[in-house]
Amino acid sequence: MSGVEYAYAKLNLALDILGKREDGYHDLRMVMQSIGLADEITVSPRAGAGTEVGTDLPYLPKGDGNIAAKAAAQFFAATGLPPVGLAIGIKKRIPVCAGMAGGSSDGAAVLRVLRRVYAPQLPDYDLEKIGAQVGSDVPFCVRGGTMLAEGRGERLSVLPPLPPCWLVVCKPAFSIPTPELFAKVQVKKLRCHPDVPGMVRALEQKDLEGIARRMYNVFEDVLPRKYQQVFEIKSTLLGLGAMAASMTGSGPTVFGLFREQDEAASAAESLATQYPSVFLCRPV
Ligand code: C5P
Repeated sequence: MSGVEYAYAKLNLALDILGKREDGYHDLRMVMQSIGLADEITVSPRAGAGTEVGTDLPYLPKGDGNIAAKAAAQFFAATGLPPVGLAIGIKKRIPVCAGMAGGSSDGAAVLRVLRRVYAPQLPDYDLEKIGAQVGSDVPFCVRGGTMLAEGRGERLSVLPPLPPCWLVVCKPAFSIPTPELFAKVQVKKLRCHPDVPGMVRALEQKDLEGIARRMYNVFEDVLPRKYQQVFEIKSTLLGLGAMAASMTGSGPTVFGLFREQDEAASAAESLATQYPSVFLCRPV
């Protein structure tokens, strides 16, 4: 049914939390960016009902618990098309529980494949609405690129692309559960907010310096002491010449923005001697 479909990771160039909602979620304002680091997804029909998921990470759910299977179920439920038995294969390249939307991107890739095969007329907006039922980051991952994401993360506006640059992405050995960090946020007590309108203007002006100056993630303000390594990675990246460095999503992954490839490559090489998962990427 599909050749390989690439499921790209995302970074948050900016992440702001505006308030807590009645439904328990938070209203966010984020500048999201897809990067070249990607899982490889295949989707094939199989005899029998339901979806089976095979991955090269044995601890990921193989059945309905996998977000890729949830996306398939949601696709057939929302479109009213008769459900088809599916075998989904996932080669994981994106670190798991890292703030890079790895699972959400797998789900979005499955939605794109199913649309191509069963509902080619379905507009992006409708596919993103289906994605929003699966997870807050799924709508962004359907189209990717550079976007402003608001509301729960499902209200999307396309932004001008990030100017050419290099990103050094570094995940420490530990993970941070997303709900744990959201629970620490008291919006009125956040000491600093990213200048998102300023970052949007800088993107419009292709001003990489201006973008770098405005990179900020409010979760850094509520990060418990046990996760201090995030700040160590940030200062290492800055010491190695990054224009700016920030945590992505609810962490713990940190990324640095570089103008020049050689500087980024040597920073990645240096970090890789200390940390298990380091990637040199470009925006896509
Ligand atoms: O939507 P998703 O399942 O990815 O969200 C995971 C968790 O992150 C939610 O259960 C909630 O605790 C938190 N969250 C939130 N506000 C958002 C997105 C996620 O509080 N806008």
